[in-house]
Amino acid sequence: MSATTSENPDLFTSVYKHFRRLSDTECYTEAYSIVNHPTVFQQCPITISIDLDPSLGLQPISNWSLYSCKFCDGLYFLSNPFTSTGQRQWIDRCINIYARQTKTSVGDNSNNENLSRIRWATLGYHYDWTNKIYKQDDHTKMPDELAQLCKIIMQVISSSTGCSMMNAEAAIVNYYHMNSTLCAHTDHSEYDALTKPLISLSFGNAAVFLIGGQTKTECKPSPILLRSGDIILMTGSSRLCFHAVPRILSDPLLNDILYKNIDDNDEVCWSYIHDKRINVNVRQVYS
Ligand code: OGA
Ligand code: MN
Repeated sequence: MSATTSENPDLFTSVYKHFRRLSDTECYTEAYSIVNHPTVFQQCPITISIDLDPSLGLQPISNWSLYSCKFCDGLYFLSNPFTSTGQRQWIDRCINIYARQTKTSVGDNSNNENLSRIRWATLGYHYDWTNKIYKQDDHTKMPDELAQLCKIIMQVISSSTGCSMMNAEAAIVNYYHMNSTLCAHTDHSEYDALTKPLISLSFGNAAVFLIGGQTKTECKPSPILLRSGDIILMTGSSRLCFHAVPRILSDPLLNDILYKNIDDNDEVCWSYIHDKRINVNVRQVYS
């Protein structure tokens, strides 16, 4: 691990600060998207076909678009594979089921009375933030539909790219307000399973996701624009790369995707998500 020195500057933090200072419009222009920066992505053909359970809220796999990221080895971007209704269902689960846990940033939130303040909830093997470990005996069942979703995603990506499969054993659900950030870090507590991919689902407002190298000094991080429904897969060497979220961006498209044809239940979700972003970060913990 190389220390940060004047000859070896922290390239990650300078890019992080750069995005902190930009306007939303500048972030939308600079952060990589398929439309604005097609040359940094390489499309991966998908040939597998799988029958999908409608409860997963997915479009037929023949409509999915998967890309490898030329700027980061092993990193894949799956452009929103959900239907609009599917996105609303996942947001509803994040708000009304996954936030109602005993292990959250606001303590026991079983009755959801602290939803407006919640920052994270853990599912499956619960992450111990203080000691940075998972414990075999601190476990609740992974929600079936989330495990199912991850299995389908892994089958598709693995058949298309040859990456290894991942059992969804633990998830961190991050709830971001418009001014929330996530500082540069690596996820390395899954020590039995660091060769297994990590799946990251985005819902709600957009974000700038920075991904760099395995140290903060070896390269400048690249910015990716993540919009509602988009999925990031960290496989191979990218699994251990530094990453961060310097910005949440108000997304004008969210209204169209999520607010059209809503029913009463969706109205409650909308009142939460219209100024939030939710990230579901799923990992395998044990080999
Ligand atoms: C994490 C993480 C990224 C995101 O939870 O470890 O890196 O997109 N989340 O919110
Ligand atoms: Mn992370």
